[in-house]
This record gives sequence, structure tokens and C-alpha cells, in this order.
Amino acid sequence: MPGNCAASLSQLQFPCVNTVKAIYPGSFDPVTNGHLDLIARGARIVDHLVVAVLRNSSKSPLFSVDERVEMLTEGVSGINNVSIATFDGLLVDFVREHQAQAVLRGIRAISDYEYELQMALMNRRLAPDLETIFLMSDGKYSFVSSRLVKEIFELGGSVDGLVPEFVIDRLKQHRGYRIYRDERTSEPKI
Ligand code: PNS
Repeated sequence: MPGNCAASLSQLQFPCVNTVKAIYPGSFDPVTNGHLDLIARGARIVDHLVVAVLRNSSKSPLFSVDERVEMLTEGVSGINNVSIATFDGLLVDFVREHQAQAVLRGIRAISDYEYELQMALMNRRLAPDLETIFLMSDGKYSFVSSRLVKEIFELGGSVDGLVPEFVIDRLKQHRGYRIYRDERTSEPKI
């Protein structure tokens, strides 16, 4: 057994390191309870987890990067080995800059698998030492996505239980959504 390695994931996967740092990258537009569940579970198996918000996404986000970082920061406030960062460019470059050993991603259903496999293999080609750790989403979040949360909220449906309360508050404050909801539902302006 190598020198000082602890009897943990670091010993099994990364025999030459004492601590394992992982990056959980994503758009988080906005963070959902599914993301937060994955962060909490990921934080239990690595020493430090960096949640990394992609800045230069080709998607048109609803929330600014700053807003997404603020929501994530609030969401992980009780977990002391998690930090929030932003990145642009290649994920593997960010991973190297942070001297992390792994990328964490969640898989909700078989439909996620192909995309995730493609990314994991491409990242491995770019950085052969980098491992991708996949966690299966909790069953109660396996149908939850940021995209559907935004769509349901915009159309006046309830997203209770899918995202934290503070995300619902942010959705309500969002100008575009407020106007649309008022027209569609005749609810008093928020
Ligand atoms: O939450 P998302 O939108 O599914 O996250 C996608 C993300 C941010 C993980 C992916 O788009 C990414 O890593 N982008 C950074 C650019 C990059 O490295 N692209 C090559 C990935 S194989």
C-alpha cells in the first residue's frame, strides 16, 4: 500500500494522492433539488467538491452566472467541503488548474447516459488521468431538470419540492417570467 493514503475512495481510485478533489460542472440554471442531492452525496465520498458553473454556455440562460452562483452558495451552505466556482473554456483545463482528480456527474435516466458517456470519453481523451464519477439520481428527482422547472413555472404550474424555496423566490422575481405569468394566469402582479 502506498505511503499515507487513507482507506477510502482515494486509495481505491487514486493510489498516489492523499485527498480527492472532484469538480461537479454544469449550467445550474437554476439549481434543483436533484443537483443539491447529488452535491450532498458527492461531498460524502470526496474530500473536496467544487461545483463549477459554466460561464460561456451556448444555451441562453435565464439566470445570470452571478445569480446561479448565489443560489448554489445558499443551497450548499450547510456542507463545509463544497465550494462554488465558475469556469469557461474546456472543463479539463479547469480540472487541471484546480488539481482535481475527478469530475462528478449525475445520471437520471437512460436518456442521460449517451450524452454523459460521450462527454466522459471525450474528457478522458483530453486528459487520460481524469476520472468521471457517476452517481445515479435519487428516484424522487430522476425526472427533474432545470429546463422543465423553468417551463412549468413559466406556465403557472407548481415547482414546489423540485427546487428550494429561495429558487422559487428568484423565479418569481424574474422580470420575464413575472410578466408572462401575469398574462397567462391573471394572478395579481408579484
Ligand atoms: O448542466 P449541463 O449543461 O449538462 O453541463 C454541461 C457541461 C458544463 C458539463 C459541459 O457543457 C462542459 O463541460 N462544458 C465545458 C466545455 C467543454 O469542456 N466541452 C467538452 C466536454 S466533452
